[in-house]
Amino acid sequence: MDVKTLIIGAGAAGMMCAAHAGSGVLLVDHAKAPGEKIRISGGGRCNFTNLYAGPENFISQNPHFCKSALKRYTQWDFLDLVNAYGIAWHEKTLGQLFCDNSAKDIIAMLRAEMEKAGAQLWLRAEVGEITHDGSSFCVRVTKDGKTTNVTARNLVVASGGKSIPKMGATGLGYRVAAQFGLDVTDIRPGLVPLTFSDDRFKAIAGTTTHGTVAAGGPAFEEALLFTHRGLSGPAILQASSYWQEGDSICINLCPDGTLQEWLRTQRQVAGRKAVTTHLAQHLPNRLVGLLAEEMQITGNLGDQSDAALDELCTLLANWRLRPSGSEGYRTAEVTLGGVDTAGLSSSTMAAKTQAGLYFIGECVDVTGWLGGYNFQWAWSSGWAAGQAI
Ligand code: FDA
Repeated sequence: MDVKTLIIGAGAAGMMCAAHAGSGVLLVDHAKAPGEKIRISGGGRCNFTNLYAGPENFISQNPHFCKSALKRYTQWDFLDLVNAYGIAWHEKTLGQLFCDNSAKDIIAMLRAEMEKAGAQLWLRAEVGEITHDGSSFCVRVTKDGKTTNVTARNLVVASGGKSIPKMGATGLGYRVAAQFGLDVTDIRPGLVPLTFSDDRFKAIAGTTTHGTVAAGGPAFEEALLFTHRGLSGPAILQASSYWQEGDSICINLCPDGTLQEWLRTQRQVAGRKAVTTHLAQHLPNRLVGLLAEEMQITGNLGDQSDAALDELCTLLANWRLRPSGSEGYRTAEVTLGGVDTAGLSSSTMAAKTQAGLYFIGECVDVTGWLGGYNFQWAWSSGWAAGQAI
């Protein structure tokens, strides 16, 4: 079978590319349905983009690489498409846009766009050997027990990363990249809960609080969640993408900076109460109990000197913890790293070492923050490759 363009992976990036790559497109996926990660994303409502998406929200060895595609196919372009299909949406927080009804609306929209473009979709299709004969790619695809040699002038790899293997993530993109002479950077789980080898937070599992978390990158101010195995919640997930094994993280439990002044005032009006009682007005009770043990917080507020209060506030604003690991690809929302952008064109996503070969979406070394950025990268990179084909 001969097609102009074969796309491997019917996820967000692959479907977007299929809708924009012109005629003669075949999209293959081993899953039983397209866009499975879209379906489960955002708690079933898909955080499909972010109003404030820009290059600064992405992690890559080359922070400039994502600029061209993000600038040419923006969050506003995707929003126009969503609006054209009459999909109701709302901004949840921090520019994050979600469907009002269901993530399935986004999948249906992408399927309709692909059909309009005349793209064929093969599901439950296993990709076997991939070769290039000097002019075309030849890819063995097995579907329903029948193997077909598909020849294609263009091969687009949109097979995602390694996150959530039970949903079909395989890392195929990295193998194809290596086969055609492209480098692949170190990869690791991102947007992932962090774990601790001791049972440190077990007693307060389920407690949430608000704070900033930094782990070698920017500090993220959002919710934190204490779990049986460690720490989760948006602030932790965001920071986890900058965390390296062995590093410590820094949590600021009083990010608005008003605690010190407030404690001094309270010392005058209610100095006979325990420091922990006062802290419990700012932080969850169970967390205060744990902090009291870890930071030896004792005594009444009235007995604390200015220096002691300053020291306490400094401790609460710089709570340093050393995670032993992360929950890994099993629960990570994304894979950090991937196909080295040095081997790709930033305007077309085409490989420099092999004509007709493209890499888009999560398999590329471009990873977004939590909040709709990763889908925006899938739309922008998929669109950029589609335009170039
Ligand atoms: P994606 O992983 O979507 O697609 C790859 C496709 O390739 C899959 O369909 C897979 O079956 C197929 N494939 C893989 N190997 C293959 C092989 N060997 N042969 C054939 N097919 C193969 N992002 C965001 O912006 N907003 C959000 O709300 C969320 N929420 C979210 C929740 C959860 C639970 C997860 C795990 C992830 C998110 N994300 C997110 C991240 C987002 O889902 C992710 O970045 C994009 O889906 C990446 O799109 P891709 O198309 O690159 O890969």
